[in-house]
Amino acid sequence: MHKTSVVIIGGGPSGMLLSHILSEHGIDNVVLEKHTRDHVLSRIRAGVLEPGSVKLLRDVGLSTRLDKEAKFHNGTLIVWAGSERLEIDTMKYTGQPMAAYGQTAITEDLYDARAKSDGVIITEATDIMLQDIATDEPTVTYQKNGNRQEIQCEFIAGCDGFHGVSRNSIPVEKRRSYEKTYPFGWLAIMSETKPLEDIVYANHKRGFALASQRNEKLSRYYIQCDLDTDIKDWPDDKFWEELKSRFPRQMADEIETGPSIEKSIAPLRSFVNEPMRYGRLFLAGDAAHIVPPTGAKGLNLAFADVFYLSRALERFYHGNDSSYLDNYSKTALDRVWHTARFSWNLTRLLHRFPGDEPFDQKTRESELEYLSRSEKAMAAIAEQYTGLPL
Ligand code: APR
Ligand code: PHB
Repeated sequence: MHKTSVVIIGGGPSGMLLSHILSEHGIDNVVLEKHTRDHVLSRIRAGVLEPGSVKLLRDVGLSTRLDKEAKFHNGTLIVWAGSERLEIDTMKYTGQPMAAYGQTAITEDLYDARAKSDGVIITEATDIMLQDIATDEPTVTYQKNGNRQEIQCEFIAGCDGFHGVSRNSIPVEKRRSYEKTYPFGWLAIMSETKPLEDIVYANHKRGFALASQRNEKLSRYYIQCDLDTDIKDWPDDKFWEELKSRFPRQMADEIETGPSIEKSIAPLRSFVNEPMRYGRLFLAGDAAHIVPPTGAKGLNLAFADVFYLSRALERFYHGNDSSYLDNYSKTALDRVWHTARFSWNLTRLLHRFPGDEPFDQKTRESELEYLSRSEKAMAAIAEQYTGLPL
């Protein structure tokens, strides 16, 4: 039987950032990750960071590579039939840029930093079970190399994503979930091509499209697709043709095409679990909530949870103050609902829904036109896109 202060379940960005920050504060912790490091680092997710996330990474000494490689954007573009260029100018309205820097790169930086500080990251830990979480002495058991292991701890952080075990360890009568699924997915490709200068969201009659980027030689593009889309039906040429058809001519002509190095389909979902704490278990990141990718809020929201939770644990261990832990669920959920609403709203505004009536698109275009004419409306969207301060 081993002992530690905090067992962190899940070695994705939430778990690894929490582990890093707790260790910086001298709080003993162990990360249990189901997969191998290589598997975790092979996952491609979104790549836009709010200024608050960048500041957090800088404050905890994790920004060396980010500061070299991230591309900072003063704004993001929206295009639709009525406009070839509407800019959400975050610099103008909030004084802050957004950073294009991939989640995969952040996760690599986190694994490297934990390795340098001899962080305890146990990968390929399977059959994880949380026990006695309503008591002051919870334990976590798992299998590693065929042996059953047990860790006794003071707190458990459930950072094991949407499909993890932590959330479901809370008795059903003590939790409630809110969910919304969307009748489409995003078909994505990564290609070693020069990206467009800007990140561009397109509302088009053939469906939503997004032009994004990872660095000056790596582009990420998405198109809205039906839920039953089979990736085998989408060779690269067909993808490029469809993508270009959803952007204004001049922008489409600027899109550099090439072979894809990754292609995937993701469904869209909104999900919130309440509360985010039960006894000594605290949920953070995708274990507690999912937002649709429109607006790239998932990782930023996960980092906000980690900020609140690490502060709460730091106050408990070094300030003898448990009030931050007691308020964690409420504090985190306030931001979660704000972000859930924003991501849902942006999804509704920018996509075409099956069964849409002409009325629906007319009101969408009217809203986009209002945004382009009203400084106040634009300031509100820019503030939310940039992310409220932590
Ligand atoms: N035991 C241990 N680890 C587990 C288990 C389990 N039963 N189930 C899942 N995991 C691991 C996964 O292998 C993964 O590495 O937990 C990790 C969870 O990582 P993510 O799913 O990336 O979730 P999180 O760290 O909260 O990151 C949130 O990911 O989905 C995006 O948009 C989201 O960008 C946001 C970020
Ligand atoms: C991405 O770069 O993957 C990305 C960018 C913006 C989004 C979603 C995803 O809204």
